[in-house]
Amino acid sequence: MAKKIGIMTTGGDCSGLNSVIRNLTLGAEIRGWNVVGILDGTDGLTADKVQFIKMDSETVPVESVRFSGSFLKNGYRGAENFQTAAKRGNLNSFNKKLKKSLGDLKLDALVLIGGNGSLSLAHANRDIYSGLQLVCIPKTIDKDVPKTDNCVGFSTAVQCLTGFCDQLLMTARSHHRWFVVQTMGRDTGHLALHAGLAAGADAILIPEIKWNFKDLVNKLISVNRDYGIIMVAEGVSVRGHSGRAADIITRELNKAGFICRSSFPDHLQRTGDSVACDRILAARFAEAALSSIENGETYVTTSLQDGVVKTVELGEFFDGGVLVPDPNIPNMQTSNSYVGPEDPVLMAAHNLGIYLG
Ligand code: F6P
Repeated sequence: MAKKIGIMTTGGDCSGLNSVIRNLTLGAEIRGWNVVGILDGTDGLTADKVQFIKMDSETVPVESVRFSGSFLKNGYRGAENFQTAAKRGNLNSFNKKLKKSLGDLKLDALVLIGGNGSLSLAHANRDIYSGLQLVCIPKTIDKDVPKTDNCVGFSTAVQCLTGFCDQLLMTARSHHRWFVVQTMGRDTGHLALHAGLAAGADAILIPEIKWNFKDLVNKLISVNRDYGIIMVAEGVSVRGHSGRAADIITRELNKAGFICRSSFPDHLQRTGDSVACDRILAARFAEAALSSIENGETYVTTSLQDGVVKTVELGEFFDGGVLVPDPNIPNMQTSNSYVGPEDPVLMAAHNLGIYLG
């Protein structure tokens, strides 16, 4: 039976989103389904007039798989969202508006392309989606989504950050300087760990592991070089100091006699042409999401486990992570995936003598 499906992107953007959108559109077209692209995610759904585009192979030309960002956009800073609605005590009316907008669109299914916050919110507020099938696709540069080995956007962010460090090393070498590079990643260290290993960092500091300044200094002394990269995840805190971790560490390293600068790739980490493995993951997740809709599933998310793409229930995703209070939404918990002690990338970095903190 022909279906009408909606697609939306929520949370922070990343590379690979347009690949997901294009593949969902093409796969739906083959099935004879109609596709509606909802603009600006949940912000758009709660706007006075919901904006959407009818999608087909012409709205998502072949070259779109390369571009970062989302053609459907991810929402406004400052718009009413789950966070501001909860703070203002408007959550019930906000949820009602979402449900009504989805009902007005007369969708059979919605594919929500989001990160762990969006998936946790969908799980907590499942009634919003009770009139349709909800299938999620995990995307994020943070790789902090439980129950999946990877998310769309992570590999491109790692590539982007690695390229950034490759360039920094050129000037670092010329000026006998160390660079402390601060990565994104929220309170997790996946991005810093992967890019740090790829870029040949001598030290990688992530929030999951305790570190101390003396050991870091000893590591840099032991390196037979006067330049290099120290990768620091944004979630790392430096005891007794406030401010950006990379700035503080740089200041202290300069005091300890190293020539050092801090560097911040910031939102560049969320851009860059999508690398092939993100595009392939995007295509596999899109196909799995469409098959899942065909099979009548709902409240599920696509997931990559040991090389196999499958769907897992949102409840399983939620219970599969570490539940942390959402810093912005009262009474809301987010399910997070941290770098665990058995993480194979962490173990490789450790065994190769990289200082890990
Ligand atoms: O979750 C993705 C992410 O890029 C984080 O790594 C980072 O902490 C945050 O979003 C930045 O958010 P904003 O774009 O609102 O500055």
